[in-house]
Amino acid sequence: MLYRKYRPHDFSQVVGQEHVVTTLKGALMTGRAGHAYLFSGPKGTGKTTIARIFAKALNCADFSKIFSKNLTISIPCNKCPACLAVNENRSLDLIEIDAASNRGIEDIRNLKESALVAAPGGGYKIFIIDEVHMLTKDAFNALLKILEEPPAHVVFILATTEAHKIPPTVLSRVQKFDFKRLNPGQVFKKLNRVADKEKIRISAEGLRAIALSCDGALRDAEVALSKIQAATPPGRAVSVDEVNEILGLIPSNYFRDFFSFLANGDKPAAIGLIHEVYNAGIDPEHFTKNFIEYLRKLLLGKVSPAVLAASGEEIDAPPPVNVAGQQLVRMLNIFSFAKTEIKTSPVPQLPLELAVMELIPE
Ligand SMILES: Nc1ncnc2c1ncn2[C@@H]1O[C@H](COP(=O)(O)OP(=O)(O)OP(=O)(O)O)[C@@H](O)[C@H]1O
Ligand SMILES: [Mg+2]
Ligand SMILES: [Zn+2]
Repeated sequence: MLYRKYRPHDFSQVVGQEHVVTTLKGALMTGRAGHAYLFSGPKGTGKTTIARIFAKALNCADFSKIFSKNLTISIPCNKCPACLAVNENRSLDLIEIDAASNRGIEDIRNLKESALVAAPGGGYKIFIIDEVHMLTKDAFNALLKILEEPPAHVVFILATTEAHKIPPTVLSRVQKFDFKRLNPGQVFKKLNRVADKEKIRISAEGLRAIALSCDGALRDAEVALSKIQAATPPGRAVSVDEVNEILGLIPSNYFRDFFSFLANGDKPAAIGLIHEVYNAGIDPEHFTKNFIEYLRKLLLGKVSPAVLAASGEEIDAPPPVNVAGQQLVRMLNIFSFAKTEIKTSPVPQLPLELAVMELIPE
């Protein structure tokens, strides 16, 4: 899988999450690492990756000395015995626990015993607890006890996609970092690099389609690229149509066309497009959700182009017609309503057809 092969090994390879990287590097430079961190945020955005990089860096070198001498080295170095041990999964200083399958009080008691023993390498002993929100109440209480008086050589890195499930008592003992969804521009860049290295000849438009579809999760984008790689002969150029076909994505020109028909009051064409989409095997609810996202971007582009640009969510296939903001709001309301109706409608296209009728009067 490409996402394993291209998992970053040092901070310079991490995409985005600048606020996290800067703070962690700062802690390494000043030699002042905290005892407990919480990495929270959406899936596939670098939590486990950065936890491993930071854990490795803690036992790699004394970066405070290196920085004072103005030497440049990658953080961590990935060459010293401590780094190699982590990279080869045989480090005794780094303990990774999946709280989804080790969620009980016994598991945390074992962890505590291990935490009390010094790190074999003489440096830090680091515990990464993934999916930490899965711990039972008792297990959380036991963990809290350790966090209240952590042994000097121990660092905890907790990771979760569901920070709201972490008890406030635990939250108050950790330094919390909120990971962000990566924007399509950032995803595109990394995909481009991976495709290059792997000699996957996918068009820029194809990569853009993947970057826009992954909802900010870089892992999902890399999994999608793996699918393309597996489904196409090596070395042959891959078009955006093939990408859409293989990944089951809706071609973006459908949204542009649909919008144009609505804006021009072309009822037959709009209804025709709904049927074309349906016959192409596209789920009407999926189509509606994506069309709402398209409308939202058009509206955002009108109201606050700066916000749209900063989010990196450029409008794919901008429409040739211009429509007033009020009309966009109306479309958004009508299609949002249609989307909720689709689930229970006896004919799945009907709510979309009704939306068209409502928007374009006789
Ligand atoms: N910020 C990033 N920079 C570079 N690559 C990334 C980044 N985030 C994710 N990836 C890619 O996605 C893969 C998975 O990332 P990672 O395991 O760190 O995600 P996660 O946030 O821990 O997700 P989950 O919540 O599902 O555990 C990595 O191996 C890497 O290839
Ligand atoms: Mg993870
Ligand atoms: Zn090292």
